[in-house]
Amino acid sequence: MSQPTIESILQEKRLFAPTPEFSQQATIGSLEAYQQLYEQAATDPAAFWAELADKELDWFQKWDQVLDWQPPFAKWFINGKINISYNCLDRHLTTWRKNKAALIWEGEPGDSRTLTYAQLHREVCQMANVLKDLGVVKGDRVGIYMPMIPEAAIAMLACARIGAPHSVVFGGFSAEALKARLLDAEAKVVITADGGFRKDKIVPLKPAVDEALKDNAVPSVQKVLVVQRTEQEIEMVSDRDVWWHELQPNASANCPAEPMDSEDMLFILYTSGTTGQPKGVVHTTGGYNLYTHVTCKWTFDLKETDVYWCTADVGWITGHSYIVYGPLSNGATSLMYEGAPRASNPGCFWDVVEKYGVTIFYTAPTAIRAFIKMGDQHPNSRDLSSLRILGTVGEPINPEAWIWYHKTIGNETCPIVDTWWQTETGGFMLTPLPGATPTKPGSATLPFPGILADIVDLEGNPVAANEGGYLVVKHPWPSMMRTVYKNDERFRNTYWEHIPPKDGEYLYFAGDGARKDEDGYFWVMGRVDDVMNISGHRLGTMEVESALVSHPAVAEAAVVSRPHEVKGEDVYAFVTLEGTHASSDELKAELKQHVVSEIGAIARPGEIRFTDALPKTRSGKIIRRFLRNLAAGEELVGDISTMEDLTVLDKLREG
Ligand code: PRX
Repeated sequence: MSQPTIESILQEKRLFAPTPEFSQQATIGSLEAYQQLYEQAATDPAAFWAELADKELDWFQKWDQVLDWQPPFAKWFINGKINISYNCLDRHLTTWRKNKAALIWEGEPGDSRTLTYAQLHREVCQMANVLKDLGVVKGDRVGIYMPMIPEAAIAMLACARIGAPHSVVFGGFSAEALKARLLDAEAKVVITADGGFRKDKIVPLKPAVDEALKDNAVPSVQKVLVVQRTEQEIEMVSDRDVWWHELQPNASANCPAEPMDSEDMLFILYTSGTTGQPKGVVHTTGGYNLYTHVTCKWTFDLKETDVYWCTADVGWITGHSYIVYGPLSNGATSLMYEGAPRASNPGCFWDVVEKYGVTIFYTAPTAIRAFIKMGDQHPNSRDLSSLRILGTVGEPINPEAWIWYHKTIGNETCPIVDTWWQTETGGFMLTPLPGATPTKPGSATLPFPGILADIVDLEGNPVAANEGGYLVVKHPWPSMMRTVYKNDERFRNTYWEHIPPKDGEYLYFAGDGARKDEDGYFWVMGRVDDVMNISGHRLGTMEVESALVSHPAVAEAAVVSRPHEVKGEDVYAFVTLEGTHASSDELKAELKQHVVSEIGAIARPGEIRFTDALPKTRSGKIIRRFLRNLAAGEELVGDISTMEDLTVLDKLREG
C-alpha cells in the first residue's frame, strides 16, 4: 500500500458526515455548534479558557490573571493553585464514580486487573508516600521507565500528587538513551520494573537501568523503586534499589495532593529534534490539565459509559495526555494493554475490544496498515459492535488505510477522528469533533476551538488554498510547551525563529508541511526538518548518525528515511568506513545492532549502504535530498551545481 502522495491527496474529495443519530447524542452535535465555539474562542481566548477552567476543573485557589504572554513564553492561570492528580482522582471519589473502573488493564500473557477510582487513588497515595520516604520532595525530578502496567500510570499520578515532575522514558529505549535523559533531567529517583511482556518476550527493564546507572554515571539518582512484573531474576543494588511490593503494604494510603502553582512543572518529556540531543519538552500543570481534559472530552465525545482505549505507550505524549491525564480528569474508564499485535496473536486487539466492550478506539496509521496486512479474518471474527468512535494519530493516514478502518473496524458508522498534534502541543490541535465535523480521508480537518492555525510561507504570509506551506499556530493555547528544559534558547530558535513574527504576532512553527483546501480543511504532509517518523515515532536523523559514528568502524554517516509500506518511513543509512575497515554483511548487522543499543529498537536501520564518499556541498554539508531520492529509488531531483564532487553521485547510483 502506498504512502499519501500530494497527487493522491489532492484528488481525495470524499466527505463522510456523522450520522444524524450520532450527532443527536453528541455534546457538540453540528458544524454550526463547532463554528460558534471556534468564533467565541478566537474572539476572546482568555475568556473562553477561563470559563472552561472554572467549569471543568477543581482549583484550590482561583487564578488572578488568565494569560501572561511574553513571546515566546506563555503562562496560564497566574497564581492559580491546582493539582492534576486531585483532578484525576480525589474529586471523583465524592461521586458515584468512586467505584467506577478508572483503569482496565490487560497484560500480554492474558492476566488482567481493573482499578476503580477509589482503588487507583489508594495506590497512588501509597506510591506518593513511598516516594516521599525515598527522599523525593516537591520539585525533584523522577524518571519513570516502565512497561505498560497500571503502575506506570500510578507512578505518574504519584509524582504529580507530590509535585515532583516526572520524566517518562519509553521502555523501548536503550540503556544509553535512558542515561542521557536521566542525566539531562537530573532525576533523583527512577521508578522501573523487573521487566515487561512484549511480543512474547520479556523486555528486561531493570538491567537497562543498572547499565544506565553503572559507575555512578548519573550521580543525581539516589534510589530505584522496582515494580515486580515478570518475576525473572534481577540484581538489586543494596542501598539503592527497593521493591515496590515490599514497601506498598506498609505505606499509608493517606497523602493529600500538594497544591501546585498552575505554572509549576508537571513533566519533562524528551523528543527528537534536528540535533543529536533530544530536547526535554516542559509542560506545566494548570493549562495542561485543562487542555487535555477539554480536548479528550470533546474529540472523543466522552460519555459516562464509554470504555476508552488508546493503544499508545505511556512513554509518549499520547500516553501522557490520552491514556492517563485527559481520560482520568474526565472520570472516564481508560483501558491499558501491555502487548502488541504479533504473529502468534494477530487478533489480540480485537479480542480486547470484544472482551471489554470498547467504545472508543484510538491508534496509529502504522498499526492500521499492519492490521490490513494481517488480514480481515481477525477483526471479522470478533464482535466489534461496541465501537462508536475511532481515532488515529502520529502520522498522515493514507486514504486507503482510512477507508479500511472506516469499513472493517468501524462498520461504516463510527466517525474517525484524525488528530494532528505533537509532544510540544500537549493536546489535539487539528481534529474533527465526531458529532460535528464531516471528515475527509487523510485530513485532520479543522482546528480545535482556541487554536488559530494557518499555513504560511517562510516570511509568515498566509498561502493560498491548496498551496503547500508551513503549519503554524498564532496564539498561545493552555497546554503549549513552556520551554526546552534548561534551554530557553533552544526553545526560542527551534519554534519561534524559523518564521518571523507577522504583524507583531508570534507564530509557533510546528516543523510540519501542510496545505489547507478550499473548505479550510488541513492536510498535513509530514516533517519539513530532519526529523523522521518511523511507525509514528519521532526520530532525528542526527540521533541515528551520532549513534553510527560512535562505532569505531564508522568514519561518517548520513541518515535519511525512505517510504515503508507499514512503518510509514524506515531508516536508511549511508556509511563511510574508517581506513582499515572493510564493508561486509557482518559489519552491517553489527552496525544495526549498535544503533539499537545506542537508541533502541525503533531506530534500527532498515538498510545500511556502504559508500566511499557522501554527496556534499562545497562548504561540506551533506546533501540529504539526493540521499532521500537514492534511498527511495527515485530519480535525483534538484540542483547539483553546488556539489563538490559530481562523481560521488554517479558511484552511488551505480552501486
Ligand atoms: O509530523 C507530525 C506527526 O507527528 C509529529 C509529532 O510527533 P510527536 O511529538 O512524537 O507526537 C506524536 C503524537 C501526537 C508531528 O509533527 N503527526 C502527529 N499526528 C499526525 C501527524 N501527522 C499527520 N497527521 C496526524 N494526525
